[in-house]
Amino acid sequence: MTVHFIGAGPGAADLITLRGRDLIASSPVCLYAGSLVPETLLTHCPVGAHIVNTAPLSLDEIMAEIASADAEGLDVARLHSGDLSVWSAMGEQLRRLRKMGIAYDVTPGVPSFAAAAAAMGAELTLPGVAQSVVLTRTSGRATAMPESENLGAFAATGATLCIHLSIHVLDKVVTDLTPHYGGDCPVKVVWRASWPDQRIVHATLDTLETAIASEMERTALIIVGRAIGAEEFGESRLYAGDYDRRYRPVGTAPRFPETA
Ligand SMILES: C[S@@+](CC[C@H](N)C(=O)[O-])C[C@H]1O[C@@H](n2cnc3c(N)ncnc32)[C@H](O)[C@@H]1O
Repeated sequence: MTVHFIGAGPGAADLITLRGRDLIASSPVCLYAGSLVPETLLTHCPVGAHIVNTAPLSLDEIMAEIASADAEGLDVARLHSGDLSVWSAMGEQLRRLRKMGIAYDVTPGVPSFAAAAAAMGAELTLPGVAQSVVLTRTSGRATAMPESENLGAFAATGATLCIHLSIHVLDKVVTDLTPHYGGDCPVKVVWRASWPDQRIVHATLDTLETAIASEMERTALIIVGRAIGAEEFGESRLYAGDYDRRYRPVGTAPRFPETA
């Protein structure tokens, strides 16, 4: 018996990996985090599968479902939104499974920041502008931020920031980031990236609060940085005609000469 943790992707039912889909199809039990995982994915479950929405359950109750599947020797497909490496609460489940001696594996998913960037049609790392992306959040009721991991500290690097779980604290985002990026720095807010009702708001740090105004839907990402919408940036040397590289040797004495 194995618990298969599967990244369900950002929302669109076809943004799950083939491996994830096949594991759902081969597992007689499916536990899914119903708050963000699209129910359409459940159509991949085998006929007669035991399907449980874990949104209203406590960790103890979730582990009891897994223990009962284990007692019957039934594989479990455990679905969480996006990818499992960030804000999935997978870590605490894996720790319990290790103590219980239950096997598990992990299948990655498309994270929401990647879906949001795709919706924007944007690369978040542009040569000469930003070469790092910070996936972060602000403190919430359930989880506090470590003191050193604050928006100002990340902003000081000039990286592109993808701020999760924070649409309700726009005032804090603006106050913390403006001294570093400037009030004219571009911001995009992407709601429900890849869902049919996806929306994108374009703003600057100065206009963000007015631009969002009465928007209440919380499943949104705030993306901030000078790379957003930039047209003034360099081109990667990798594809420059005179750049000598292993797959395209150039010049009379290439660094990686072709071997016969
Ligand atoms: C609990 S975290 C889950 C993150 C997820 N594991 C991932 O890989 O993106 C939930 C937050 O992720 C962001 N999020 C998740 N899905 C999203 C989507 N489709 N569009 C925009 N933001 C999304 C929002 O900031 C939301 O508050």
